Amino acid sequence: METFLRDVVRGLSASPKYIPSQYFYDDKGSKLFQQIMQLEEYYLPEAEMEIIENQTEKIIVDLKPLNNCLDVIELGAGDGSKTLAFLKHASNYGVNIHYYPLDISPEILKTNEKLITEHLPTIQISPLAGNYFDTLSSIPESKNQRLVLFMGSNIGNLTDDEISNLLEKTGSVLKPSDAILIAFDLKKCPGTILKAYDDSKGITRSFNLNLLHRINRELHADFDVSRFEHYPMYNPVSGAVHSYLISQNEQTVQIDNGNYTFELASFEPIHTEISRKFSLFQIEKLCTGSGFNVFGHYTDKKQHYALTLIKQV
Ligand code: AVJ
Repeated sequence: METFLRDVVRGLSASPKYIPSQYFYDDKGSKLFQQIMQLEEYYLPEAEMEIIENQTEKIIVDLKPLNNCLDVIELGAGDGSKTLAFLKHASNYGVNIHYYPLDISPEILKTNEKLITEHLPTIQISPLAGNYFDTLSSIPESKNQRLVLFMGSNIGNLTDDEISNLLEKTGSVLKPSDAILIAFDLKKCPGTILKAYDDSKGITRSFNLNLLHRINRELHADFDVSRFEHYPMYNPVSGAVHSYLISQNEQTVQIDNGNYTFELASFEPIHTEISRKFSLFQIEKLCTGSGFNVFGHYTDKKQHYALTLIKQV
């Protein structure tokens, strides 16, 4: 059975029901996410950019790349628009970079390569499409120090176990002098966080509901999307935003042309995403638990966001 179908059937058979958040990003979902990133209320990209603009030199100084050469490997690179600023600052500082953008989508990697070579023609770039655990191990060995980037607060979608797994797998392709730079969204005023996931223009609502449209289209399902509501909530104890789709009434959904049937009670939630927020202390505990030492935290002025540089102990 196709993975997407299997995952959706598994999630809707569970109690409480869920759909894995990785499936947000079809063409429409990726476009909606681009729009989310433009929203005033979605403070994350601006905070990340502020850190990149103001602190890349400091990160490079702390990293001290051997012979001024660095292999920069980016997990989930996307279109490279944010990485461009990082690569520019590092190049201007005199670092020779070989950039390996890793992403599941070969199309987005074409956009990435075009953008990077257009602005930084001297950079060597080797895009690798596929699951990044597979592509990570296919990167050719070199004498250069490696810096793995995991940007965009994408780590916020993962559970503690998934983070440990990611760090351990990444660590297995690193030498002791190599490092990982991870973007974490930090705990802050709960109202600010909640608004970022419940914007006034309703873009995040459309982003969440698009999951059902996608399932209808690709998995031959019959969700009545108008009978679901977007409901995000922030729990300041766990530091997680949980996003749900709430069934507005009792209803039946068929998937795969009627091969699977699911009943939803009125106001039954489908959990669609977890977006975690961290404290610096929590980040340190997580990294230490997976065999890494925190080398430095680089934050924006408001302390809304952190780039954390870690190395294996
Ligand atoms: C791409 C995972 C960082 O969780 O903040 C944005 C996705 N979801 N609005 C996030 C998202 C709703 C985003 N990440």
